[in-house]
Amino acid sequence: MNLYEILHKKELTKEEIIFLLNLTDKSDQQKLFDRADEVRSIYCGDEVHLRGIIEFSNYCEQNCLYCGLREDNYKLTRYRMTPEEIIETAHVISNLGIYTIVLQSGEDNYYDTDLIAYIIYQIKQSTNAAITLSLGERGFDEYRTWKIAGADRYLLKHETASHKLYSVYHKKQKLEDRLSHLRFLKTNGYQIGSSNMIGLPMQTIEDISDDILLCKELDLDMAAFGPFIPSPDTPYQNKKAGDVDLTLRTMAAARIVLKKVYIPATTALATLDEAGRIKGLNAGANIVMLDLTPGHYRELYQIYTDKKCMSDNPLNYKDCFQLQIEALGRKISYSRSDSIKLTRQVTD
Ligand code: 5AD
Ligand code: SF4
Repeated sequence: MNLYEILHKKELTKEEIIFLLNLTDKSDQQKLFDRADEVRSIYCGDEVHLRGIIEFSNYCEQNCLYCGLREDNYKLTRYRMTPEEIIETAHVISNLGIYTIVLQSGEDNYYDTDLIAYIIYQIKQSTNAAITLSLGERGFDEYRTWKIAGADRYLLKHETASHKLYSVYHKKQKLEDRLSHLRFLKTNGYQIGSSNMIGLPMQTIEDISDDILLCKELDLDMAAFGPFIPSPDTPYQNKKAGDVDLTLRTMAAARIVLKKVYIPATTALATLDEAGRIKGLNAGANIVMLDLTPGHYRELYQIYTDKKCMSDNPLNYKDCFQLQIEALGRKISYSRSDSIKLTRQVTD
């Protein structure tokens, strides 16, 4: 196969995506990253978009084999933030000039329909921020209520497009359900984010190629590809972490396939590689998710260990981050950053 031709095709086949994911020669890999960077610039512009995350509860009713928050991890100290603490943290984030607030938790039904609706409504009344919910699989009626209360987006990762692997990692859940939730959210006016983890046990390159094609089929507004990191006190604690270069190739191939989509340079990537964020931003990514959970809670949101966290002063962190972005010749967007599909005119 001819690399240049593939990198410039409008549509890629599964085999062509596999070819890109398998590029190990450093100069070929760089060509892939450079083309992804170019596609990102053409279709999405040069701005780096920020999201402020509040991880408001680390309770979870699920038991995903890879995740430190799984219900059966009795070693983890659990916490729940009060609605007042969550709303106050949202104000800190919007005062930093970050206008997307991601409310994230394990699947925790302690926060019922009305409580989440109240939190959304209060934040929307007092800030100009968009709200992304990342609460796992909840009821269809709840999604409807939260949309009316003011929620804008929903992040629900499909984790893997393989039905077989999905049922291994999630004993109680089915991939079809997850996909029907994502489709319901999209048809009910949410901007949706999803995608996979790279390097999960038993995953093949072919599976990753299917993940990228599934992202396309779902017409995602945001696709978050992050490496798997083994987490202590989980069944996968002794497994190997995902490969940084393979994660970057996945992000780059996804950028070329998906075009008008937000792709984050994830915290997981930054955890495995000091320069992970910058490498990601140079390989197709255009968002950074800043963890702005109050410090004493943040330490307990242990999806995996050694999570790359910001210092305790979010203001310092943001300034330092801004300098890094400017060094790349990019600038930070201080807008709500709604879906690129809705806001940019570039067509094929
Ligand atoms: N390594 C990396 N990412 C993980 N997640 C869960 N466990 C891990 C892990 N061990 C990600 C999943 C999930 C989100 C909450 O965190 O993609 O959707
Ligand atoms: Fe819970 Fe999400 Fe972790 Fe699964 S990945 S155990 S649903 S927090």
